[in-house]
Amino acid sequence: MVFTQYNFDEIRLPIVERNDLFQRSVGETTDIVEKEMYRFEDRDGTVLTLRPEGTASLVRAYVEHALHAREPVSKLYYFGPMFRRERPQKGRLRQFSQIGAEMIGRDDPAADAEILLLLTDLLSDFGVTGAELQINTLGDRTCQPGYRAALVEWGRAQGSALCDDCARRLTQNPLRLLDCKQPGCVALRETAPRMIDHTCDACREHFARVLDLLAAEGLEPRLQPYMVRGLDYYCRTAFEVIASGLGAQNALGGGGRYDGLVRELGGPDVAGIGFALGVERLLIVLAGEEAAAAPEFVVAPLGAAAERAAIALVHRLRRGGARVDVEPGGRSLKSQMRHAAKLGARYVIILGEDELAGGTFSVRDMEAKVDRPHVASLSATAPELRAVLAAEGGGRMERSA
Ligand code: HAM
Repeated sequence: MVFTQYNFDEIRLPIVERNDLFQRSVGETTDIVEKEMYRFEDRDGTVLTLRPEGTASLVRAYVEHALHAREPVSKLYYFGPMFRRERPQKGRLRQFSQIGAEMIGRDDPAADAEILLLLTDLLSDFGVTGAELQINTLGDRTCQPGYRAALVEWGRAQGSALCDDCARRLTQNPLRLLDCKQPGCVALRETAPRMIDHTCDACREHFARVLDLLAAEGLEPRLQPYMVRGLDYYCRTAFEVIASGLGAQNALGGGGRYDGLVRELGGPDVAGIGFALGVERLLIVLAGEEAAAAPEFVVAPLGAAAERAAIALVHRLRRGGARVDVEPGGRSLKSQMRHAAKLGARYVIILGEDELAGGTFSVRDMEAKVDRPHVASLSATAPELRAVLAAEGGGRMERSA
């Protein structure tokens, strides 16, 4: 499991938290806090909230249980329901689930790179192939004030073109101008100043190093200079995973650095970075990819003995990461081939009496339309078989089917 490989441990967080936790962390002027939280009063008058996200909750637990005193770096993941009173539509629910991960205690660029590699490994482990990673830097205490001032100046120049919410946010929290969903404000955004042009030397170097470390691992996120994310606790690196097939709700996940949050919530001055994936959106994306996908191999056993041998072969190929289907052994080769073609299989593995006697199997390449008799041994793994099939060979389809 990817979290174990990255040495992350699970933490179970409560669904109900005190309301002020999210006001202080997510931010008073965010949509989440202004419009979307489910609040209610406890019997003693305390105002509680169904958690809208996991990061604040995790940091609260980190501070409350003084995890910093136990370990210099905490690497934790969580899973569970979150609640936001948004207008429901495809991929946007009032109760949804997140898988999240947070690393607290490291402010170096290698930590950002590790979190982003964890995120991409997790997505590929789930089978997501077509998602795009977008990235931005949001600066820090040194350079963000200058950027905010530039945004206010720009916002004032837009006058009444901004929506009422943005006109109000202009003085309260100008970064939120870039997060507005109103079509008029979205259209104006392209003319706004960009944080990347206002970063201090330290933030610029940090960002460049993160990109450099990612590039060394073949990961090149797309710079999205107006991405600010919908929560106020971020600084420096911020990112989102965008997937097609999700419609308007195209963010499969998001995250970033929150170096001031632990201190803000009463803990030591330690840095943090993490992300969360939306599980329902993940399922929508995977359903789309599944529908488009076809098996790499369909195994066609001929007879009872072959059917038995097929079970072990199929199991080994699947453990090697291949998408494999198998036909029942009692049917003719012709009908098995027809079915494999209907499934769109790339290769059909034929296991007849001859093959079984030699401890091998034959393969029909459905794309190249060639037969590869006795091409591999029955104990072949998926990578071995792919290597053999990638090599030249095979002849015109001859076997009657
Ligand atoms: P977020 O971008 O608000 O970030 O949410 C993360 C993901 O949760 C979104 O990309 C989306 O897939 C899913 N999501 C959000 N709202 C809904 C909804 N109404 N219906 C369905 N899915 C939804 C956070 O929550 C941060 N806590 C992430 C983070 C962790 N940052 C640092 N560490």
